[in-house]
Parts: sequence; structure tokens; C-alpha cells
Amino acid sequence: MFYESSFMQDQFYKEALSAEVFSYITKATEELQLESYVIGGFVRDFILKRGNAKDIDVVTVGSGIELAQKVANLLPTKPKVQIFKTYGTAMLRYKEIEVEFVGARKESYTEDSRNPQVEEGSLQDDQNRRDFTINALALSLNEKSFGKLLDPFNGIEDLSNKIIRTPLDPDITYSDDPLRMMRAIRFATQLNFTIEENSLNSIAKNAKRIDIITKERIVVELNKILSAPKPSIGFLHLEKTELLKRLIPELIALKGVEEVEGQMHKDNFYHTLEVVDNISVNTEDVWLRWAALLHDIGKAPTKRFHKKIGWTFHSHEFVGSKMVYKLFKRLKLPLNNKMKFVQKMVLLSSRPIVLASEVTDSAVRRLVFDTGDDIDSLMTLCEADITTKNPKKFKRYHSNFKLVRTKIKEVEERDRVRNFQPPISGEEIMKTFNLEPCREIGQLKEAIKEAILDGKIPNEYDACYQFMIEKAATLGLKNNAI
Ligand code: CTP
Repeated sequence: MFYESSFMQDQFYKEALSAEVFSYITKATEELQLESYVIGGFVRDFILKRGNAKDIDVVTVGSGIELAQKVANLLPTKPKVQIFKTYGTAMLRYKEIEVEFVGARKESYTEDSRNPQVEEGSLQDDQNRRDFTINALALSLNEKSFGKLLDPFNGIEDLSNKIIRTPLDPDITYSDDPLRMMRAIRFATQLNFTIEENSLNSIAKNAKRIDIITKERIVVELNKILSAPKPSIGFLHLEKTELLKRLIPELIALKGVEEVEGQMHKDNFYHTLEVVDNISVNTEDVWLRWAALLHDIGKAPTKRFHKKIGWTFHSHEFVGSKMVYKLFKRLKLPLNNKMKFVQKMVLLSSRPIVLASEVTDSAVRRLVFDTGDDIDSLMTLCEADITTKNPKKFKRYHSNFKLVRTKIKEVEERDRVRNFQPPISGEEIMKTFNLEPCREIGQLKEAIKEAILDGKIPNEYDACYQFMIEKAATLGLKNNAI
């Protein structure tokens, strides 16, 4: 059943196995008189020249744990073998490579559980239980057939035609492990592949089964979709198959265009996807991409129609930033400073746009003060937010943002307001006016900060001191030093 391959092809696949670790796996395989193969992502990515050679999955017709232990014994570094008894798998690290060993198996699943019943099987059984034809490709690691490709489902052809297809009936493959629905969409997005029609229909049919998958596993896939060069491919699939409705209904709520008295607003769902694609050209930061994905979620609950002014989304940034917390919590995304960053981006997402029509020094100073070190990320988000199809407006908005960026630089160099602390502390105020802790201290501090941000005084000690004295007089405070 070996794939009939030409000498050239054999050489090509042998090239895949040039990493030193394979020679040890072959030796161990022969000593234990087993059959073993490298399978899955490693083979796929080698053929696609994606250069993901750090994760190697080895399947053996026999005990994966035994093979791993043998390999570890032969390796010069004698690495520790991590054994996962419940799954019958073992893992070791050699240099920077992580190798996972598993015994070839048959799996059968029940309706309501993610945990399959497992029995030993042949390589073919093992290939049958894999998710996609392109992930079921195996290369032999036995001495005699070293580098032979075993491809019972013609995964090679699917790789060259850029197709995601399941080895078995998709209803079986997806129902066995519903996470595979997300994986199909993720691979289609990462590789820019097409999901074969039956497969796509089956995902739509089985979408509800995603509910039995842990949020942590789902988020891994969502993050991979968001990290791809064009994330909209994945989100459009998620929307069409109704997976998105189950995972991020806040985005589905943005869908649609309403018209009242001849006035329409844009479809904020498709707009959002454009923003995510735009930002992905300029940043690899997945959290900034999350911010782009969520920047308008507050628009659904705040949408109103007013006879005089048309459609409004008042405070959608504030409402949206509050929604980020709930969404992160529900998806078990980290509730740490990454979430705070996304909230901050959503909250401030309209500030530079307002600025773009009138770039004043004091508005820029305030923006820099409120945004701190995230100013560059915010500008990147706002530039991505320009999705107008009117070329004149497109040009104008972009050149205004260029102006804002230049102003930011100028203001920063001159006034140093990023993360600034006014040069006069609360303690100094207390001492100067002989005060116990009281409301006036806060008032004075705030007044100094506001005066700096408004550009009334420079961000320097002497000017601030003088301003404080004058302001204190209006509050009826007496200077202790006089
Ligand atoms: N696999 C599967 N079903 C899953 C997960 C994995 O059939 N739900 C199989 C596939 O054959 C896959 C292999 O296990 O190729 C290894 O899985 P994993 O390491 O998660 O993915 P890779 O395919 O290696 O791809 P990536 O590293 O991009 O996640």
C-alpha cells in the first residue's frame, strides 16, 4: 500500500527527515521491531514549505510510550520522557524539537463526550481517525522504507489544490471531535485553502456540537484565525456556519443595515472584518487584532434613530469596553493586562477620528496623556478603521491621521506628557499650605494637570509652582512659606 513514488519524490521526502532526531527514532523502531511514521502537521508543513519543523508527531504500530523511552535512551542528551498514560502518548524534547509519540489507534466516540473509546489499530486505522486528508500524510521511519509517503486519501492532491477535506464522512469526523470544525476554518484561513463543500455543510449542520468543547481549546483556534494574514476568511466561515453565533454573538448583532426615512447606517459586521484585515497588514499583535475585532461591539446596544440627526451610537466606545470584560470572561480569555489593553483600545477608538478633523495641540496632548504607551497601537487601530469607499475621503482621512501622528511627535518632544506625573506632588501641596489631607489638595493637583494638558503652562516645575500659588489663592489657601 505504499504510495508509488518516483526516485525524485523519495529524495524529496527523505529531505524532510534530515533532522538528527529521526535517525534515533529509526534506530529505536528497528531495535523494537516496530513500524513507525512521522505524521500530521510536520509532513504537511514540509510539503508546503511552511518551515514548522519544531513539532513532530510520530505514530507507531505498537506502544508509543515504549518507543519514546527507547528513543530517549539512545539520544545523547538522555531527555526526560513525559508520559500521558490516559492518552497513551509520550513526549520528549531534543534540542529545540518536541517529539510526541502515539501508538496507532482506532477511536470511537459517543454523542455527548469528547473522550473516545480507544483500541489499538493499524496505521490505516490511525490515518482514518485524523481530521483532514492533508493532516493524515505519513512518512515511513523504518530503515527499509525510510521516507516513503503513505497517503491513502490523496492528501497530496488536496494540498496542491488547496482543499480542506476530511478522510471519512465529514459528519463522523466533526462529530467525533467538534473542535475540528474550528480547525477546518483555522487551516482554511492560515493556508488560504477552500473547505470542500460537503465539509462546510457538515460544519453548519453540526455547529451546535461546539458547545461540548472547552473554551480554552476554542480560543486557541480563534487566536490562530486572528493571527492569520487575512482573518476575515475565518470569521466569514464562522458566521456562515453559525459557529460565530455560538461563540461571539456580539459580532452577529452588528450584522445588517437598517433604513429609516431614507437614512441608512453601514453594516458594522462587514466593516469590522475589513478593519481586522486592514490592521493585520500593520501588526502581528493578536491583542490589537482582538481590539479591531471588538472595537464596534458597543454599536448594537447603543444604536438609535433620531429624526433630526439620523443614526447614532452614543457612548458605544464606553459600552463596548464594558462588553469586552464579559466576552473575555465567557471565552476564558485572560482577564489581565491584555484584556485591559483591548478595553482601552475600544474605549479610545474614536478619539483620533474626532481629532482628524481639527488637530489642536491641546487635544493631541490629552490623547497622548490618556493613551500613554499605547498611542501608537491606537493610531494603528484608527487608521485601519478607515474603510470608506470614497477615494477622496479615504485620502483625506489618511493624510489627517499623518498630521495627527506628526503632531503627537511634536507634542511628545516638547511637553513630555506620555505617562507624566505633574511636577508638584500632593505632599508638596500639603507642606506649602500647611494642610492635613483634604479635598483642596486633589483640586489643586487636578488644576495643575489640566493647565498642562490645555497648554496654559509648560510641564515644568517653576511654572507649575507659580500656577499652584495663584490657584490656591482663589481657593483661599495661605502659602506657608511666606
Ligand atoms: N489531529 C486530529 N484532530 C484534532 C487535532 C489533531 O486529527 N482535533 C491530528 C492531525 O492529524 C494533526 C495532528 O493530530 O495533524 C497533530 O495535531 P496538532 O499538533 O494539534 O496540529 P498540527 O496539524 O500539527 O498543526 P498546528 O501545529 O498548526 O496546530
